[in-house]
Amino acid sequence: MIEKTFSIIKPDATRRNLTGEINGMIEAAGFKIVAQKRIRITLEQARIFYEVHSSKPFYDDLCVFLSSGPVIVQILEKENAIDDYRALMGATNPANATEGTIRHKFALSVDQNSVHGSDAQETAASEMKFFFSDIEIIE
Ligand code: CDP
Ligand code: MG
Repeated sequence: MIEKTFSIIKPDATRRNLTGEINGMIEAAGFKIVAQKRIRITLEQARIFYEVHSSKPFYDDLCVFLSSGPVIVQILEKENAIDDYRALMGATNPANATEGTIRHKFALSVDQNSVHGSDAQETAASEMKFFFSDIEIIE
């Protein structure tokens, strides 16, 4: 089934000018980037976006980090996009990420781990809606 997922290229990656290289890996893996923009996420938006983690010890630092510099928000389309993009990203902690994954190649640490990807159909739908309107998604 053709599916869409939501992705963020995080501030540690944009700061190192890795947008093109990460997009190259995304496209080489068969994803079509059907929407994309470079934005600055506010602290308030980050706190809403990551609300599911609000009880975790890393929540405050995570939200400060996500709002610390430009990010690329994007929508990726492919068969089985949600799970396949999680696989392409690699493990949350880059120390556990397998070779060939984005995080293995580029992540600096568990907190500065270069990319976000939705983890389920419901979160993909709500995350896409948080950042994009329908007219910004061109298939
Ligand atoms: O991003 P992913 O879905 O792989 O991981 P998560 O468990 O949903 O956590 C969200 C984000 O919180 C991670 O991508 C990390 O940036 C951050 N995090 C952290 O800073 N320290 C941890 N121990 C776990 C996650
Ligand atoms: Mg997650």
